[in-house]
Amino acid sequence: MYNAFCTFGHMAKVTTPFPVSGYLGPSYFCDRQEETQELLSAISGGRNVTVFSLRRMGKTALIRHFFHKLSSEKACQTLYLDIMPTADLKGFTNQLATALVQTFPENTSLGKKMWQWIKGLRPQVSFDPFSGLPQLSLDMVRAEEQQATIRSLFNFLDESGKKSVIAIDEFQQITRYPETSTEAWLRSEIQSLKHVNFIFCGSQKHLLLEMFNSAKRPFYASTQMLPIGAIDKDAYARFITHHFKKGGMTIDAAEIDYILDWTRQHTFYVQSICNRLYQSGSKKIVKDTIQSIIEKIFKENEAVYFTFRELLTGPQWALLKAIAKEGRVFAPTAMGFIQQYDLGSPATVKRSLESLLDKEMIFRENNSDGTFLQVYDLFLSRWLEYKQ
Ligand SMILES: Nc1ncnc2c1ncn2[C@@H]1O[C@H](COP(=O)(O)OP(=O)(O)OP(=O)(O)O)[C@@H](O)[C@H]1O
Ligand SMILES: [Mg+2]
Repeated sequence: MYNAFCTFGHMAKVTTPFPVSGYLGPSYFCDRQEETQELLSAISGGRNVTVFSLRRMGKTALIRHFFHKLSSEKACQTLYLDIMPTADLKGFTNQLATALVQTFPENTSLGKKMWQWIKGLRPQVSFDPFSGLPQLSLDMVRAEEQQATIRSLFNFLDESGKKSVIAIDEFQQITRYPETSTEAWLRSEIQSLKHVNFIFCGSQKHLLLEMFNSAKRPFYASTQMLPIGAIDKDAYARFITHHFKKGGMTIDAAEIDYILDWTRQHTFYVQSICNRLYQSGSKKIVKDTIQSIIEKIFKENEAVYFTFRELLTGPQWALLKAIAKEGRVFAPTAMGFIQQYDLGSPATVKRSLESLLDKEMIFRENNSDGTFLQVYDLFLSRWLEYKQ
């Protein structure tokens, strides 16, 4: 879908200035100027980049925004592939081949060459029912064949006469492939390309950091790391004011402040609240409008939250609740915290904590005060804080 937007200039019909999925173009994208500049300078300097952040902070949208900029400047060819749905090297090959044929439509000279070559591999071609874009499936059984195909696809780009950037989203997925040598093999292939740069992207920070920062791993120190944090508060406030105003609605600074604090400036949650506020039909957004939207979101999600409670053990649920009520917890095994929330022994807390981290119900992050824990899903965190 993304390539459709980038390559053919298709633009989804915009019904809200606050999308909760996808990328609607630069007018609906807030700030990220520094990050975009970092990407630009890395790519111009021939450096590969690893973009990482908490989930739903805006990595994918940033890449799409960056690619939109590159392709509107006709600076280079851009390919985006999300390998989250792939389970093995074959899946990876198919995603790459699909991204290529979508980037080079058959009516271009490069596209003609591309298709001719691809057709030799006898692909199964289907069409995405939403975007109408071709999807390829190559029927290769042996890993060597798949590797040879990936190499040819990379070389095709490398020799196309134009610089290319390939973004591989959810890159940590390759560590789950059954072909154990994928990481080392891919690293050496990538290294040999002269005119192709890569942006690796993902939210599973520990897996990604391990891949790129551990001296034992093939990708060690091979990319520039680009961590993505929250969008600048003032910039977000200006963006929100602008879009409400444009839609004939008003919202005061105090209300915007409330939204940004309540969501901890976590992009997806800011977008979700603003998306619904925009649709509310209220000409003037007041605190009550915001409150009723929050209540509605809680109601919609409650059934899911209750299943979480079923799936977690008693101590895990108690710890999750305690973290939510505190917002951030720096010392989870400290006596004060344990006693206040009646969490049992430090050993129990430690066990629950590891399990909640593993399930991505909470995350661990550093700031200038040290390392802290926080509930991952903001809506769940707020719901636990108020309702439990
Ligand atoms: N700078 C931005 N301005 C406006 N909206 C944004 C911005 N960045 C992201 N968004 C929106 O926030 C939501 C989450 O962004 P996105 O999907 O890019 O996050 P992500 O970090 O890739 O998440 P995940 O880790 O789950 O893949 C999307 O709806 C996107 O449209
Ligand atoms: Mg993403």
